[in-house]
Amino acid sequence: MPAIRLEHLYYAYPPPIPGGAPTTVLEDVSLEVAPGEFLSLMGATGAGKTTLCMAMNGLVPRSTGGIFRGRAVILGQDTRETPVAQMARRVGLVFQDPESQFFSATVEDECAFGPENLGVPPQEIAERITWALDLVGMGSYAGRPPTHLSGGQKQRVAIAAVLTLLPEVLILDEPTASLDPVGQQEVFRAIGRLAREREMTIVMASHDAEQIAEFSDRVAILHGGRIARCDAPGAVFEDADLLDAAGLAPPEVTEVARALNRTHGDDLHVVRLEEAVAALAERLAGGTRQ
Ligand SMILES: Nc1ncnc2c1ncn2[C@@H]1O[C@H](COP(=O)(O)OP(=O)(O)OP(=O)(O)O)[C@@H](O)[C@H]1O
Ligand SMILES: [Mg+2]
Repeated sequence: MPAIRLEHLYYAYPPPIPGGAPTTVLEDVSLEVAPGEFLSLMGATGAGKTTLCMAMNGLVPRSTGGIFRGRAVILGQDTRETPVAQMARRVGLVFQDPESQFFSATVEDECAFGPENLGVPPQEIAERITWALDLVGMGSYAGRPPTHLSGGQKQRVAIAAVLTLLPEVLILDEPTASLDPVGQQEVFRAIGRLAREREMTIVMASHDAEQIAEFSDRVAILHGGRIARCDAPGAVFEDADLLDAAGLAPPEVTEVARALNRTHGDDLHVVRLEEAVAALAERLAGGTRQ
């Protein structure tokens, strides 16, 4: 059974003013995500990534209203038949704007809130907090007020606060947007480990093609209210026509390879830095031998 199954989702937000027109965001989204898979979600600004993330834990349409058709079945539960609070126990959502998520005096309290509400014993809560804060590199900030952290630190704490619930499905809406490159890589690596070692199912909206290519199993392109393509990063990032149409860019190494293919009649196919280095080293070695 897939962890996430979206069947022909259609969704429109309610009209901003009574009598106005609803805003259609999702036209026909079908997607399956396997347990323990790390799926990245790409799409231009306004493509509907946040809306789709919220549809995966039932906030859309249960909190937003609007017109919803099709089915979203998460861990075997239909989002329209499952209360949001019940879904939230198994499906963690890290919001795009972490600020909206904080309401505790300290980072530690923020991380404790979810498991406390579920009646997890204090000793286990403490262990989960230590684990989650260490995982996102915020172990030394437990006593700080979340509001006094930098944007990137807030994002890390927001991830830790959701992780302390040990969700089976973790949905992250652009969690690395305000991190520096090293921080982005750290978060991607940590999320990748959760998928591999804990069999957590991950859906992560991101614009970061390099990190997606490095760490995720598949990447889904959201365009025109549909999943235009969902495949391994190597296949999706080589689909130049699709990326152009969707207003997205592949990793830079893929663009370099494409330019070399054009200008030198080469046949390079790379999406990861490591692959690019290996392919170029091979060509350089070949070049010196000739
Ligand atoms: N509460 C709302 N009511 C009405 N329309 C909305 C609402 N939230 C979002 N929209 C509209 O839905 C569309 C998709 O928005 P969404 O936030 O899902 O896009 P996104 O892909 O997450 O964009 P970004 O990359 O900027 O985060 C946009 O046209 C937006 O204006
Ligand atoms: Mg968004």
